[in-house]
Amino acid sequence: MTTLPATALADVAQQLTSGGRGILAADESIKTMSSRLEQEGVPASATSRRDYRELLLTADGLSEWISGIILCDETFGQDLADGRSFPIAARERGILPGIKVDTGTTALPGYGGALITEGLDGLGGRLAAYADRGAAFAKWRAVFDVHTITPYAADANGHALARYAALCQQHGIVPIVEPEVLCTGDHDLAAAEKATRLALSAVFTELVDAGVDLTGIVLKPNFVTPGLDAAAVPPAEVAAATFAVLRDLVPAEVAGIAFLSGGHPTARACAFLNDLATIDERPWPVTFSFGRALVSAALHTWGGSDSEVAVAQQVLLENCRNAADAAEHTA
Ligand code: 13P
Repeated sequence: MTTLPATALADVAQQLTSGGRGILAADESIKTMSSRLEQEGVPASATSRRDYRELLLTADGLSEWISGIILCDETFGQDLADGRSFPIAARERGILPGIKVDTGTTALPGYGGALITEGLDGLGGRLAAYADRGAAFAKWRAVFDVHTITPYAADANGHALARYAALCQQHGIVPIVEPEVLCTGDHDLAAAEKATRLALSAVFTELVDAGVDLTGIVLKPNFVTPGLDAAAVPPAEVAAATFAVLRDLVPAEVAGIAFLSGGHPTARACAFLNDLATIDERPWPVTFSFGRALVSAALHTWGGSDSEVAVAQQVLLENCRNAADAAEHTA
């Protein structure tokens, strides 16, 4: 087992979330990635998923804005065209490799559609193996819906996140702790705020009870927004609501906060981050750990065509630069 001093975990967590860089979430499951490829007319296969992830990682200069890349197990074990593995190639480019270790969600019996994230069985052994192969950090995503979240669903997912985080730290891996309140639907800002408070409150109670060192974690929350089908509110209002929740529930020693984009268009997600970054009394660095907001346009531009790789990489880099500028509030 790799054992790292707490300061090393804190260093990695800070490296991931500060210095004007953020995290690229490229860890879609095989099923999700395949369906996104097919939507763009690209036949889904291990090779096309690999080619697409290679396009992302090899965009020239990516590390100027990207501190870490989250991979799924398939990509973590694949090689680039030049024969180097993805985690090794990422490190050589100045980007820390991360691994998604949850195995997805299933229904919580008797809880009306609420979900629980699975993947704890055998997790210690898997983390040890990922650490040996170069993983610097990991990700586990809990999923909540404003209509189905209950204190029990929040506690159960918080407990799983805390057990995952403690195991990660035991194996020298920084855990990204991701409690996502979905923004699908037509709920208002107050409903998102209430659900996010419930989720984060349970998560931090469980993290503390599990003895997780908060200086060596990265929190990956949602922005607090009305549902995507509801009337939008100005980014400053989203930033204020998000900050109010985080200020009340996220201890100051947490190393950094890296937001998911949640299906918001790139410009909106960057505007939320930009306005949050202006709030001076924040005790933690804030940055992005976007998936779709960084990659959707690049995937569309590529469309499986070799001749479009360079243009698609430029599209990716532009989004990464905009997100990094937002995190630095220089947008
Ligand atoms: P989105 O930014 O597309 O929401 O994805 C981030 C992520 O990693 C979700 O788990």
